[in-house]
Amino acid sequence: MGKALDGVRILDFTHVQSGPTCTQLLAWFGADVIKVERPGVGDITRGQLRDVPNADSLYFTMLNHNKRSITIDSKHPEGKKLLEELIVSCDVMVENFAPGALDRMGFTWERVQELNPRMIMASVKGFGPGPYEDCKVYENVAQCAGGSASTTGFDDGPPLVTGAQIGDSGTGLHLALGIVAAIHQRTTTGRGQRVMAAMQDGVLNLCRVKLRDQQRLAHGPLKEFPQYPHGKFGDVVPRAANASGGGQPGSILKCKGWETDPNAYIYFITQAPVWKEICNVIGKPEWITDPEYAKPDARLPHLKEIFATIEAWTMTKTKFEAMAILNEYDIPCGPILSMKELAEEQSLRDTGTVVEVDHPTRGKYLSVGNPIKMSDSPTEVTRSPLLGEHTDEILRDVLKFDEGRISALKASGALTAPARSAAE
Ligand SMILES: CC(C)(COP(=O)(O)OP(=O)(O)OC[C@H]1O[C@@H](n2cnc3c(N)ncnc32)[C@H](O)[C@@H]1OP(=O)(O)O)[C@@H](O)C(=O)NCCC(=O)NCCS
Repeated sequence: MGKALDGVRILDFTHVQSGPTCTQLLAWFGADVIKVERPGVGDITRGQLRDVPNADSLYFTMLNHNKRSITIDSKHPEGKKLLEELIVSCDVMVENFAPGALDRMGFTWERVQELNPRMIMASVKGFGPGPYEDCKVYENVAQCAGGSASTTGFDDGPPLVTGAQIGDSGTGLHLALGIVAAIHQRTTTGRGQRVMAAMQDGVLNLCRVKLRDQQRLAHGPLKEFPQYPHGKFGDVVPRAANASGGGQPGSILKCKGWETDPNAYIYFITQAPVWKEICNVIGKPEWITDPEYAKPDARLPHLKEIFATIEAWTMTKTKFEAMAILNEYDIPCGPILSMKELAEEQSLRDTGTVVEVDHPTRGKYLSVGNPIKMSDSPTEVTRSPLLGEHTDEILRDVLKFDEGRISALKASGALTAPARSAAE
């Protein structure tokens, strides 16, 4: 079956996480992704957090499925020429080098446009134009600079980063959307364009509701926050612990076994339309008509007591038992699932959201597949490439080099690591 991005060729100059997540998604949609890597070394993540000796790490393999790898020394004159030819042959170029690195290689946006006016040149950077534009940025820096850390955690504790990689994978997602939109626009304009996604901007976009709350503060306390009514509000959005952040109050509550199992918890939302059912389930039918509890606004000052009462009930059930009972009444809730539980969840295997992939040097491993499902563009997850695995194939099939040219290029040293001096 065909794929949504069949015929789109991507020059993938990305490394670490943010850029690779973007190009992996595009590969899953059918794009031919050619990952350019530094000879001898490759993407630094190949060797980071290694669990199996001499094999590509899970860090690398889980972010680079369905791609081809070519090694090119971009600082070698012949390597530069080769990259220019690839720029002419590709539709999209994606990179997430530190600010200025691509310009230093000689591939400014102006130069890329000269080479290929249809080129869509997409970049992830830590920050957009402004005081921090020259900074190198990693995930947690973006979470801090984008407003996530200041709004995550408990009121009496320090700012917290979240396990979800909203700075890296989140920005990769934003960039992928920009690229797809640019491909669509090119069908009418015939021109490529520059697509930029700054990690600070991506995180802030995902923290949009917190900027909402910042402005609501000017009109009084945030009544759904745990600080209300007993705590104090200053002039910045405080950390909301596990409060829901939406119009329906929610909290994480202990379940049976919480004393020993760090994930024996459930998220419980006291959604207004099912208040009657909630009261009946937890054994508080009198709250259905009591004016102090009957209406959402009346309940706000009592949320602490309400959740404590609900928790006294959830603690008598496992998270799955509680989930089953609450679902019968359409009460929104969710178990706190561990990575182990997610890895073992059959329904996620059935949909391809969790997939088992085989790899020649590391064997079988689990990965997250494409979370976006399309009826006419199915995803088959194939393993990540070995370093330079497709170098010859790309030179032959994409650039149409003959064997003589390939040999000459190899002899030039542009495809291999520069020899190291004894002093290094
Ligand atoms: C992630 C980041 C901090 C890593 O920094 P880093 O490891 O120092 O890597 P850089 O991006 O600075 O690139 C390093 C160098 O490798 C060089 N390089 C990359 N590919 C090469 C190749 N194929 N051949 C030769 N040199 C190559 C670059 O030219 C650059 O050299 P220069 O600094 O001499 O010009 C940085 O790339 C960054 O801030 N990126 C943007 C934001 C981002 O995506 N962050 C999240 C990453 S998950």
